[in-house]
Amino acid sequence: MKNSLYLTRRDFVRLGAGSVASGIAGKNATILEAKTLWPSPAPAPSDTVRFGIIGTGTQGCDLLRATRSVPGIECVAAADLYDTRHESAKEVLKKSIDTARDYRRILDRKDVDAVIVAVPDHWHRRLVVEATQAGKDAYCEKPMSHTLDDGFAMIDAVQKNKRICQIGSQRVSSVLYAKAKEIWDSGRLGEVDTIEAVWDRNTDSGAWVFPIPPDANETTIDWNTWLGDAPKRPFDGRRFVSWRCYKDYGAGLPGDLFVHLISGIHYVTGTNAPAIRAFSTGGTYHYKDGREFGDLQWTIYDYPKFQVVVRCNQNNKYEDQLFAFYGKKGTMFIRGEGASGALGAGGSLAFRAEPAFQTREDYSIGSWPEKQREQYIADWNREHPGAAPGEDKVESEEEVYAPPPGYNDLVDHLANFFQAVRTRKPVVENEIFGNNATVTGCHMSSFSYFNKTVAVWDPGSKSIKTA
Ligand SMILES: NC(=O)c1ccc[n+]([C@@H]2O[C@H](COP(=O)([O-])OP(=O)(O)OC[C@H]3O[C@@H](n4cnc5c(N)ncnc54)[C@H](O)[C@@H]3O)[C@@H](O)[C@H]2O)c1
Repeated sequence: MKNSLYLTRRDFVRLGAGSVASGIAGKNATILEAKTLWPSPAPAPSDTVRFGIIGTGTQGCDLLRATRSVPGIECVAAADLYDTRHESAKEVLKKSIDTARDYRRILDRKDVDAVIVAVPDHWHRRLVVEATQAGKDAYCEKPMSHTLDDGFAMIDAVQKNKRICQIGSQRVSSVLYAKAKEIWDSGRLGEVDTIEAVWDRNTDSGAWVFPIPPDANETTIDWNTWLGDAPKRPFDGRRFVSWRCYKDYGAGLPGDLFVHLISGIHYVTGTNAPAIRAFSTGGTYHYKDGREFGDLQWTIYDYPKFQVVVRCNQNNKYEDQLFAFYGKKGTMFIRGEGASGALGAGGSLAFRAEPAFQTREDYSIGSWPEKQREQYIADWNREHPGAAPGEDKVESEEEVYAPPPGYNDLVDHLANFFQAVRTRKPVVENEIFGNNATVTGCHMSSFSYFNKTVAVWDPGSKSIKTA
């Protein structure tokens, strides 16, 4: 941590509206120091990590933008089966690079150390397996897998080929989540039995209703390859851009948002296994446009030591993003849009100790005879000198933390990956962590939601069963 300072109005603007709404206005917030994940001084040019990117759509371009802030790396090639996206990649990088429709052009290059995989979910398995077989380290976007089998096949490929793999839930590299983990590990929360996570939206874009680019057609896009192993169908621009709405390519709210939330919770709590049980429910209330996933979904998870409730709603944004950890001794909140960092800095973390519990029992003694009651009060007061009786509890001050202005955890997450590529040291979100978060956030939720049953994780058979 650096300095403690009072946030100015300009800082609020720079931090984003979510921070103002999140309750840090008017409070002293400690600005967290950005982590330095890359070597200082910057690596010599001869030590530059050269990478290629597969998929330069929305997230691919955001990742490329973020890589520009990571020293010691160079993007040398991009593959996308939509020609226009080659231009997008070059525009973002502000330079010319080798581009192709076919990703194998990148995998065949001997001078490429690593690849970023930023394609729709149904292509993740094949690309991570083939990239690691080709000797490349892989940064793969979340959700790691499209099916349960995909995740375990990806783990096998990464481990067999002794490659580094980072999954792309960037909040686990955030300074805000590092602070949350520090508070969790310190025990200041006491026993935590309940964790809530919410990610709400109320825009068409937030519900994946994206405009179809005017030149998107079968001439500019290799549609047949895009479909991959999914059932063949005529070109459909809506499926191409809004693939998250369809089971053949994406996984709705569980794949898009639950996985981010569960990754954050697993990181803070040090969990590295799927939940024991999940029950999920919800529905399609507004976006009745043929989508195959709900626009509201809740899941309650049982973990060995606590319960987790996750909700995503695409029809109301009052809560925005919220993580709440409710402990016997304290409560911790992470709030605000942009806490995941893709949109830049934002969000805040607050911790407040529970009021002292050593208060005199004043409720049930109302039924005691006066003499007995007075004796009890006198004894209690003598045994607890200085303690506040009954309701006279003193609320403790809230501690508030915020990331530095302009902070972007996507940069830190990428830096963590590229540093691991260079040093062979572990990443923060490897294939095991990514798979556990995806099994829980995505596959258990969807299993329960669609089968209308409790989903039980069976670690022995690595499968999801009904209760
Ligand atoms: N970490 C985050 O915050 C975050 C944010 C958004 C998306 N994502 C993830 O990133 C991935 C991509 O999402 P998006 O929103 O960028 O999708 P998108 O549709 O905008 O872009 C995907 C791109 O991949 C290309 N593509 C598809 N299959 C290909 C293949 N086999 N070879 C080469 N190119 C191929 C498409 O032509 C398209 O340009 C998804 O897994 C998504 O869940 C993560």
